[in-house]
Amino acid sequence: MYSVCAAVNDVEVIKSPLDVKNGRFLPKTEEIISILSGPNAARIKLLFLTSPGNPTGTCIPNDLVRTILDHPTWRGLVILDEAYIDFTEKTSAVALFDEGYQNLVVMQTLSKGFGLAGIRMGISFQSPELAQILANTKAPYSIGTPTATVALRALSKEVGFTLEYALPCPADCFTTESAVDEANSKFASGEPHVAGRGAGERVP
Ligand SMILES: Cc1ncc(COP(=O)(O)O)c(C=O)c1O
Repeated sequence: MYSVCAAVNDVEVIKSPLDVKNGRFLPKTEEIISILSGPNAARIKLLFLTSPGNPTGTCIPNDLVRTILDHPTWRGLVILDEAYIDFTEKTSAVALFDEGYQNLVVMQTLSKGFGLAGIRMGISFQSPELAQILANTKAPYSIGTPTATVALRALSKEVGFTLEYALPCPADCFTTESAVDEANSKFASGEPHVAGRGAGERVP
């Protein structure tokens, strides 16, 4: 979709095909670094990575993301799409903010692990300075009340889902009522638990 949006807005896209190593599809770090050091580098403002990939399912190691973030001359933003992060055991790249990166944006969504595609709600993590720029430049219409109400409920302690408590979601989690009860009781006792929703689950 990113390249479709770019095309609609007449923005040029430079693609770097993924490399297949041991059955895993990973970005070609050296090629990316070389593109970001080449003659077009100053015109490249955004670099998109998806982890886990769709449809590859491959998680991009944070070390690889770090290598790109640490590029010595390129001054653009790395946008990391973590739409499927709730289904993996990988540590979210949000952890990289603790290392002070200002050129990183991590995007997640309530569409997948939370099963709330219908409310059209995403989350982006970035430095406070960048968040302010995004707030200043976004369209004047903010998030609708129905969407905000459902999202806040999904993320509330009452329902039992918080980002703080979010842990990798195995494929079979929350497919039964008892699994939901178990997770909620673990939450109530303060024990870390799996967060995420399986197909068919709904925010009450
Ligand atoms: C990798 C990836 N990112 C983002 C999205 C979009 O999710 P949303 O429903 O929040 O627009 C999708 C949807 O399929 C996806 O596959």
